[in-house]
Amino acid sequence: MDEPLNDVGKVSGHVAIMGAGPGDPELITMKAIRLLKEADVVLYDRLCNPAILEYTRTGATLLNVGKNPGKPSFKQEHIQEILIQEALKGHFVVRLKGGDPFVFGRGGEECLELAKYGIPFQIVPGVSSISAVPAYAGIPLTMRNLATGFTVISGHLHCGSYSYDWHALASVSTLVVLMGLKSLPEISRSLMDNGKSPETPVAVIQWGTTQDQNVVSGSLLDIADKAAAFTSPATIIIGDVVRYRDSLQWFHPEHHLSMAGTLTASAT
Ligand SMILES: C[S@@+](CC[C@H](N)C(=O)[O-])C[C@H]1O[C@@H](n2cnc3c(N)ncnc32)[C@H](O)[C@@H]1O
Repeated sequence: MDEPLNDVGKVSGHVAIMGAGPGDPELITMKAIRLLKEADVVLYDRLCNPAILEYTRTGATLLNVGKNPGKPSFKQEHIQEILIQEALKGHFVVRLKGGDPFVFGRGGEECLELAKYGIPFQIVPGVSSISAVPAYAGIPLTMRNLATGFTVISGHLHCGSYSYDWHALASVSTLVVLMGLKSLPEISRSLMDNGKSPETPVAVIQWGTTQDQNVVSGSLLDIADKAAAFTSPATIIIGDVVRYRDSLQWFHPEHHLSMAGTLTASAT
């Protein structure tokens, strides 16, 4: 990689770091669609519904840089290098990420790197799985008098030296966990050890907002067993709001576009 540029005004290409939404292709924003139509190069992730790539123009270069569990994938440094090199060639590059790019999406890191090289960028927020996935499962994150707020954590519990304050987390009314399937037994145990009732309702939603949406609900005590067969991506909701699902289920996945079946399709 070349040395970072100091001469900011000289780069003719630019980059849009964009959210593709959580899976339902209709949850992409109008701004993202407009920019996809203009892009010369699109780098997209595993959790972007490939149906969205229909908006790209003929001749655009489409590159699947998704991190597929258990399969060789692009390293983050390589992705950043492509973004930079393509922009330096004068191209308009779209970096398309599932959900919102600034929510557990490394969008911030990529922007920092672009800034270092003096490459102009814009950020297009997306509909995050944090709220969209429970909404499609009929679970409101807040409810007056029951849940006046919610807390979101990553299920990657052992990142560096950081550790969660389980006592504090046990007292929040609604807890949303992303990337938490593997650590669900540990999360459940830690919350119960810190005073959360074992009867607290929990829902695990796999492939939310898509035709493949699958939901299992239970309690802190039994959810790890009940969701043992689930695979990523899944969002976990812990709290009394989960009970509303019994009355608020509205989404019928069978009427929607499949996503899991198309994931391996990589456009070129
Ligand atoms: C690396 S994080 C990216 C989050 C994304 N930037 C967002 O705003 O939704 C990936 C995690 O998001 C959650 N997720 C994303 N799409 C999902 C979906 N369709 N159904 C359930 N969970 C989803 C899962 O917890 C998954 O492991």
